[in-house]
Amino acid sequence: MPAKEDMQFRTQSHVQAPNGAQANTETPTRPQADSASASRPASPPAPEPHRDVIALDDVTLRYPAGDGEVVALAGFDLRVAEGERVAIVGPSGCGKSTLLSLTAGLLAPQAGVVTVRGQVALMPQRDLLVPWRSALRNAALALEAQGVPAREATERARPLFERFGLSGFEGSRTWQLSGGMRQRVAFLRTMLTGRPVLALDEPFGALDAITRGEMHEWLEVALAGEPRTLLLVTHDIEEALTLADRVVLMTPRPGRAAGELAVDRPAGSTRAEWTTSAEFSMLKAAALETLR
Ligand SMILES: Nc1ncnc2c1ncn2[C@@H]1O[C@H](COP(=O)(O)OP(=O)(O)O)[C@@H](O)[C@H]1O
Ligand SMILES: [Mg+2]
Repeated sequence: MPAKEDMQFRTQSHVQAPNGAQANTETPTRPQADSASASRPASPPAPEPHRDVIALDDVTLRYPAGDGEVVALAGFDLRVAEGERVAIVGPSGCGKSTLLSLTAGLLAPQAGVVTVRGQVALMPQRDLLVPWRSALRNAALALEAQGVPAREATERARPLFERFGLSGFEGSRTWQLSGGMRQRVAFLRTMLTGRPVLALDEPFGALDAITRGEMHEWLEVALAGEPRTLLLVTHDIEEALTLADRVVLMTPRPGRAAGELAVDRPAGSTRAEWTTSAEFSMLKAAALETLR
């Protein structure tokens, strides 16, 4: 189980990349040219309800490419409040993964300001499970990367297997697991970090439609038991409307926010009731119209 102190927001966040690399993000992450002033530690903030935990203001991110550069994001704005579930939907290449890397402190913008209060657990587009470790020891990696001894990390990961529908598969190698199970191990590992902000990059993109639907239901239950702020990147508008309170629609590259939709899913509605409702169809039509 996550340590209680891990759930508290901190002004200075320590970001653990899933591959074990480390990066320090501060609040705010300023453009690279101003990085010296960004490395000043700030005093811890008093807890305030309903404040933004993620704020991107007028952010531009360019990658060097050959002789020139690729502008992945230009003048991008986003705010995510504590406990909010926001989905980002946009065409391939519009800068969605870049946006998550900025939020997790793995990239700094050339212009604009990225402010993140709290620690971000990033689940990257590829699950990054290692084939020579069992499912349990893959999950334990999240804690080992934070300096927890291997045996203790394994014992802390073990109880989550039942909750995540993976009992009996602790000792399985990743190639013995179905696609949905691999995603659950990767997600379990992300949750195990105890970080209050989840940044999920197309977590169900590689799954067939039926398994994806099952994973949506499963994720809703998993998050109901352990509320977190969620930033979900997807190119699947139905997935966004099912899992998020708010959907931000992006333009093709360079990505900007093209519009957003508030999702007012009736409390207690099942996934089937919601996805077949008139409200859902209207939201989907509005999203497709904006994305066209
Ligand atoms: N490391 C990189 N170097 C150069 N170009 C990159 C790099 N990463 C991403 N890009 C380019 O930036 C754009 C946005 O990429 P990405 O954020 O991965 O988009 P998305 O996740 O929406 O598909 C794409 O055109 C991509 O080719
Ligand atoms: Mg991507």
